Amino acid sequence: MQGREISQAVIRRLPRYYRYLGDLLENGVERISSNDLSKRMKVTASQIRQDLNNFGGFGQQGYGYNVKYLYTEIGKILGLGENHNMIIIGAGNLGQALAKYATFDRLGFVLKGLFDVNPELKDTVIRGVRVRMMDEFKEFISHNEIEIAALTIPKEMAVEVANLLAENGVHAIWNFAHTDLNLPENIIVENVHLSESLMRLSYNIGRYNEKHSRTDGSQSV
Ligand code: NAI
Repeated sequence: MQGREISQAVIRRLPRYYRYLGDLLENGVERISSNDLSKRMKVTASQIRQDLNNFGGFGQQGYGYNVKYLYTEIGKILGLGENHNMIIIGAGNLGQALAKYATFDRLGFVLKGLFDVNPELKDTVIRGVRVRMMDEFKEFISHNEIEIAALTIPKEMAVEVANLLAENGVHAIWNFAHTDLNLPENIIVENVHLSESLMRLSYNIGRYNEKHSRTDGSQSV
């Protein structure tokens, strides 16, 4: 499947397959049909077959999918078979919460450094990683192969700091600051906005309430 472009929509669904297959593995399930997986994941079996066919299918007609194999292969596709060194810029509430979350390490995202500009945070140690000041950043980055930087600083500083990261060879940014970074195309950016997710939830609460007030005949005020 080398060199073939996979749609971003499929890529976005892969982590969910990976999570479900990981749960199946933990529960000792060795094989699963696309129909069974479809019932658990609440997506159509044809969607599953179509998605997994992008990578050669991994399944056999009438035999189902080998859970361990599929889990491993999807992990490889997602680049989880290898370690990715990561730093966090901004050791405030969110930066520290991310640093404390050990599961990222288990997935191969290895936290190598934490940076901030607040002298009060200097040398604080979070899960074995020391907070350094930004003036140590260039020196640090020249001695450590850092692939990913999580950006957990106020949005007003994010563009400038993202440019600094890019200039110093960090080519993937996990951006939590609520702003678009507009970096050169060779820099990969993944934006994470929990508030957008909450807004979608809020919209769906509204729709739910509307539907139920219609079905029970009551009127909203
Ligand atoms: P915080 O104020 O606790 O932490 C921000 C840290 O960034 C502070 O320690 C500050 O000293 C540091 N900082 C400021 N300028 C810096 C610079 N130029 N270089 C390095 N460090 C710098 O704020 P919190 O709650 O941790 O939020 C951080 C950012 O993440 C904010 O932009 C916030 O809006 C955003 N956020 C995003 C979420 C999301 O879902 N995307 C969820 C929660 C927060």
